Amino acid sequence: MHKTVQDILNMKKEKKKISVITSYDYTLASLCDKSGIDVLLVGDSAGMVMLGYENTIPVTMNQMCMFTEAVSRARKNSLLVSDLPFMSYQASIEDAINNSGKLIKAGADAVKLEGGSVMVKTISAIVDIGIPVMGHIGLQPQTTILSEGYKVQGKTKDTAMKLIEDAKELQEAGVFSIVLEMVSHEVAGIISETVGIPTIGIGSGVDCDGQVLVVQDLLGMYDKIKPKFAKRYMNLSEDIVKSLEIFQKDVESSVFPATEHWFSMNDEELKKLREQIGS
Ligand code: KIV
Repeated sequence: MHKTVQDILNMKKEKKKISVITSYDYTLASLCDKSGIDVLLVGDSAGMVMLGYENTIPVTMNQMCMFTEAVSRARKNSLLVSDLPFMSYQASIEDAINNSGKLIKAGADAVKLEGGSVMVKTISAIVDIGIPVMGHIGLQPQTTILSEGYKVQGKTKDTAMKLIEDAKELQEAGVFSIVLEMVSHEVAGIISETVGIPTIGIGSGVDCDGQVLVVQDLLGMYDKIKPKFAKRYMNLSEDIVKSLEIFQKDVESSVFPATEHWFSMNDEELKKLREQIGS
């Protein structure tokens, strides 16, 4: 049985830190799931790391459903949360419910959406019909990009107060956890102490109840943006390029394929074939 929303809530009570990693495809999701990571997040960051968009704005519901289906085929142990993409929940509560339902049908256990107090009614409506919601405040890539760009949030008393209020309101609306993206670590710590649900930090310091990273950042596979907060555990892109260069040379020089990589007819059948075609 895979982890449930209740298991994630219990981890805060038991003071156990929660690990979250983004996943978008079957192969990597299988490995993430096997590693004991608590939550697989089908983030709309897929638009950037999987599809090559400049930001998350162009991501569609169809794309999110496809990524969610692939990850759900791989998932055995972790909780699976999927992002509602830009404009799939902002225009109306009806949109939000319909699109949350699509992600659940695609295999998600819960959905995530960006926004503070402005999203309270939408969140309550989704939670009321029985779909668990993860909130996301601080830097909200779907909309921050339209105004101020990628900046640390909660550096002044007033912006900090707004974040703390947003977190409390999201809790009241019924979210089971909240992502805090690029929030100053002091404010992230205060929010984590204030709310009874787990906070999941990304670039928000060690006092959050859990941490999330984009899997390509962790593995060193995405070189276009290298955020300060993303610890690289390996440099996979270097290893991949090196391996591909060797493959290219092997093909050029006929070192690959070798006998162990191909299949043969039996001698008798080959003899008959040669006789028939006269070679
Ligand atoms: O889309 C995403 O990957 C996210 C995480 C960075 C939290 O929302």
